[in-house]
Amino acid sequence: MLYSQVQEYYIPSDMTLDQTEIKRLIGKEAAQLVKTGMVVGLGSGTTATFFIESLVKQCQEEGLEIQVVSSSTKSLSLAQAGGIPTLDPQEVTKVDIVIDGADEVNPQGQMIKGGGGALTREKIIASMGKQMIVIVDESKVVDHLGAFGLPIEFLEVGVASTIAKLKALSYRGKIRTNNEGSYYRTDNKNLIFDIDHPKQFLDPKKDHQQIITIPGVLETGLFFDLPVKVLVGYADGTVKFREE
Ligand code: 5RP
Repeated sequence: MLYSQVQEYYIPSDMTLDQTEIKRLIGKEAAQLVKTGMVVGLGSGTTATFFIESLVKQCQEEGLEIQVVSSSTKSLSLAQAGGIPTLDPQEVTKVDIVIDGADEVNPQGQMIKGGGGALTREKIIASMGKQMIVIVDESKVVDHLGAFGLPIEFLEVGVASTIAKLKALSYRGKIRTNNEGSYYRTDNKNLIFDIDHPKQFLDPKKDHQQIITIPGVLETGLFFDLPVKVLVGYADGTVKFREE
């Protein structure tokens, strides 16, 4: 079985790892789950980047033979630069395993994603997965979703109306901007609205349904009903699957 192949391993000292080091370890560990012949869905974000880098190494140094489908232009570029054969998401319907990070994951395996702005493509790739491995450091394992905020992707057309409708439903927040103040654009050339109120999503499916019905909203960062296993990295260097 796939999951039994993941070994817990330990850093041989009392040192405490910082978040970046934990992410690197999780990425490396997650890459061990990938086997020759698999079609792999690549997530996005810093943890996913560490995973892709480890995957490239395995392909180049250990003869791993796979095909990948990517959830962002950045992940696609990393895979291509590493010489991994890539598939066009427009032509794929099923992938063997999706490996992606998350901003928060609750005990039901429901998640908030989209911190990196790739939520729509990530959700499409996640929906193709026979299984999804969520790779997170321990700070992202929460009882209730929401403290991170909730990214939604929406069309610029009708922006004022879309935001007024969100506010009428008591969802408040800000349009994501770049450092110099211009609108942040997703790979799909759309905008992101980061909801920062309410602070908790106790019924994520209900919030998703309310938000997604607003014209102009393309996707929410609430992920649920996916065949998820959560691989968690800890500051002591332990990486292990969360008990479901
Ligand atoms: C990008 C995502 C990422 O998976 C999420 O933001 C976690 O990112 P990181 O691994 O950088 O903390 O959903 O849209």
